[in-house]
Amino acid sequence: VDLQPHNTLAITARAEWFVAITDERQLPDVLAAARQQQLALTVIGGGSNIVLRGDVPGLVVHIANKGFSVVGEDEQTVCVTVAAGEVWDDWVRQSLQLGYYGLENLSLIPGTVGASPVQNIGAYGVEIGELIEQVQGIDAVSGEPITLAAADCAFAYRDSVFKHGLAGKIIITAVTFRLFRKPRTNLVYPALQEVLSPTDVEIDPHRIREAVCNLRRAKLPDPAVIPNAGSFFKNPVISLVQAEQLQSRHPDMPAYPVDATCVKVPAAWLIDQAGWKGRVKGPVAVHHSQALVLTNPGRGSGNELLALAQEIADNVKDCYGICLEMEPVIIPFQLD
Ligand code: EPU
Repeated sequence: VDLQPHNTLAITARAEWFVAITDERQLPDVLAAARQQQLALTVIGGGSNIVLRGDVPGLVVHIANKGFSVVGEDEQTVCVTVAAGEVWDDWVRQSLQLGYYGLENLSLIPGTVGASPVQNIGAYGVEIGELIEQVQGIDAVSGEPITLAAADCAFAYRDSVFKHGLAGKIIITAVTFRLFRKPRTNLVYPALQEVLSPTDVEIDPHRIREAVCNLRRAKLPDPAVIPNAGSFFKNPVISLVQAEQLQSRHPDMPAYPVDATCVKVPAAWLIDQAGWKGRVKGPVAVHHSQALVLTNPGRGSGNELLALAQEIADNVKDCYGICLEMEPVIIPFQLD
């Protein structure tokens, strides 16, 4: 099966075997069969945060189950369990229509609900880990159900236990969110404040969704038009000491506080300043309005894209002494 329609970078690569799971009850049998045939297992959702560097041996499992149900509520909150295969932004839109608030800042992020805890998706001041109650899955070896409380997911900036200790060991089948019944708006992100002034009126979450959608559409390429995987690098965290040294040479370098000793620098700024914004390298490119996004307009290979990423990272290291870490997951395997 060609995986090109299953990754937003539109990279062509073949899966040796491929199965779409529309009902999680199919999983134990599929896993048992894969084990019997000694097939390696790769799980994908919307394919919006992966770089295919070649054909994928073994079995690719595409999670495509749908649906959601309210599993609990109290005066202030409601808990909803959502199937992993739901398209993320469809769920965000639906949650707001139902009057369940909290996800509005995370509007228009590509991908599926099941992928959201893996990289702890975050945007405009909210990280999904804050709103997750638990994550349900199936043990990839035994086929037994597993439930993880949010506290056991090790959520951190663009990171979770699903990228480390449980990588390849659990197949996420559903996520339970705890959402608010009354709007509890978050306008900490400067770009959001610019377009929505909290002094105006009570800001309504539907307006936040609209503002976030507008901001994203203005800066970020639509993967259906220009293939991309969103931010290609994490924003690096550096020491205050290093930041001060850099700022004495580059006074306009932005830096956001992390804790008493560290700050986060926008990778987009570093890449932009190093002159990469809008650069084209054969079939692949650096997006013209957000330097953090690598695009694949000419339908290049994963290796061509990774070569560009490496060149950028090497250059940023030379200019600023900062190591950029890639954000998407490399498939079939990660070299680190
Ligand atoms: N900047 C530049 N050049 C650019 C773009 C940005 O210099 O081309 C500088 C500006 O100083 C700007 C700052 O970088 O103020 C931050 O830019 P932006 O607000 O666009 O956010 P970001 O840090 O680049 C992060 C996430 C995005 C998320 C936005 C909004 C990461 C790796 N990326 O980007 O996530 O949408 O914040 O919250 O944390 C994604 O993961 O796919 C993604 C798009």
